[in-house]
Amino acid sequence: MCGIVGYIGFRPAQPILLNGLKSLEYRGYDSSGIATILSNKNSISIRKSPGKIIALDNILKKKPLSGTIGIAHTRWATHGAPTQENAHPHLDCQSEIAVVHNGIIENYVSLKAELIKEGHQFVSQTDTEVIVHLIEKFFKNNSLEEAIRKTIARLEGSFAISVISSKEPGVLIGARMGSPLIVGVGKGENFLASDAPAILDSTRDIIFLNEKEIVVLTKDKVRVTDFSGKEIPKTPSKINWDVESAQKAGYPHFMLKEINEQPKNLENFLKARINKETNRIAFQEQNIPEETLKNITNISVVACGTAYHAGFVGKYIIESLCAIPVAVDVSSEFRYRDLLIDKNTLVVAISQSGETADTLAGVKEAKRRGASVLAICNVLGSTLTREADGVIYTHAGPEIGVASTKAYTAQLAALYIFAFYLAEIRKILPQEQINKYISQLRLIPHLQQEVLKDQQSIADLAHKHSHFGSFLYLGRNINYPSALEGALKLKEISYIPAEGYAAGEMKHGPIALIDEYRAVVCIACESKVYEKMVSNLQEIKARKGKIITIATQGDEKIREHTEEVIYVPKCNELFSPLVVALPLQLIAYHVAVKRGCDVDQPRNLAKSVTVE
Ligand code: AGP
Repeated sequence: MCGIVGYIGFRPAQPILLNGLKSLEYRGYDSSGIATILSNKNSISIRKSPGKIIALDNILKKKPLSGTIGIAHTRWATHGAPTQENAHPHLDCQSEIAVVHNGIIENYVSLKAELIKEGHQFVSQTDTEVIVHLIEKFFKNNSLEEAIRKTIARLEGSFAISVISSKEPGVLIGARMGSPLIVGVGKGENFLASDAPAILDSTRDIIFLNEKEIVVLTKDKVRVTDFSGKEIPKTPSKINWDVESAQKAGYPHFMLKEINEQPKNLENFLKARINKETNRIAFQEQNIPEETLKNITNISVVACGTAYHAGFVGKYIIESLCAIPVAVDVSSEFRYRDLLIDKNTLVVAISQSGETADTLAGVKEAKRRGASVLAICNVLGSTLTREADGVIYTHAGPEIGVASTKAYTAQLAALYIFAFYLAEIRKILPQEQINKYISQLRLIPHLQQEVLKDQQSIADLAHKHSHFGSFLYLGRNINYPSALEGALKLKEISYIPAEGYAAGEMKHGPIALIDEYRAVVCIACESKVYEKMVSNLQEIKARKGKIITIATQGDEKIREHTEEVIYVPKCNELFSPLVVALPLQLIAYHVAVKRGCDVDQPRNLAKSVTVE
């Protein structure tokens, strides 16, 4: 997820673009840049910098940009580390065209090879750079708008782009497919942005572009067409949000916004990793040789907190699909244990931030013992990704809420895809079985969306139970880690003692806790252990425990054993952690809100624990 801003009008572009970037920093902050057209010279000038936007600001203080037309970008790296060269905007060979982009161009490797063969010079490792060279290629015999239209026809993947050219200095052009882009309508000036916060200081008249639309802006005119060129009339909407609520896209907290981003993120992740025709799985940065992966005899997962719970689900996934034993450790234990790992071990290090001290220390220890290390990480260029032998990026975009939600389900998605890949190369599963699993996994974003339609009833139920002094979360098999994660979500944002437990362990102690003052959240979806969960429900009900059950839509029988039911759509139990995660996140969120807690910045917590 990146932030884009564009301006065309009568005022100096630089301050408008820079302020716009600052209000979009939550969309990405590993590098940034601005390009403007210098009206007196009809040429493009550019300033870029790795690091946060303050670094760009400092450069501009020393070397400001003039011009009343420009584009700007704050990056969340997906392809190519967060360096000066990889920062946007990107220029064509003649520095007459500048482009900023948010999204992922899935066919950039083949496009880049084609353009290099045609003589184009590339300076970055990004997917974005192919866009500006394609425009350059088509610009030779077309208008800028036509060149962009022809370029778009060659792109596969998701994009929101903004383009200027010193050869047509009177226009600013934007286009979108799969990533957001809006138009700000002013008087004698117009704007482009990924999100409203970037332009609310200048205008509240906004046009939200739809999928597959192109907008051509002059300082006095806005013209929107579809990708074929057919004009589409648009009427601006008046936005009354303040900047802060606009950054949360109208949600009260980043955490709720991020919970709601999960279906789209999962859909985009699957599209980017699995070829829609052949089901071939592609990991661009997974550099561990196939031979090595074929020969490993065991896997050891190392992670902390929510990432550990994702890795624990990964144990069930990989052992079931790949027939390889998987050990799972919290990093702080892993790093000090007498590890039985060696060159035949694949260590999978999972981390949203890629900067967690214990996980980094675990990886160092693993490498010292000769193991191969695969990182599953959300931050490109983070320390973990540089220490690991191979990386699978989760592309969940910046996760602002301290309590991890979208990064968790993105980690699960990466584990499912990696398990399919391992099962394929180790010939554990026939392709048709993998194809079946892939088809089922492709349905999950829709099922997650169905759960999100039920948010109000989950909120009501959470509010009703927000007074309880302690919670017990129970699950079995692949949803035992889901119970652990549900308990962590609740405790870290509501400060209520909450414990996740394997339901089968009830008789071995926890049942002593059950009385009418204890809330118990049970994950009892349709599964091979469903009847066992029903027995647990009966035990709890007999002792007056207050039960909230997560069950499969259509299961009326479960109502005999529980006060409250949150229904989730039916799916293969192998993928159920991706679905049950959402009600568990929403229960925690709404209990914490009801208790007046600081949901996005809970007390005592940091987003990334970079110390031991
Ligand atoms: C999750 O909600 C917590 N904020 C925390 O447990 C987190 O998962 C843990 O600190 C690991 O962080 P990482 O994924 O960045 O390594």
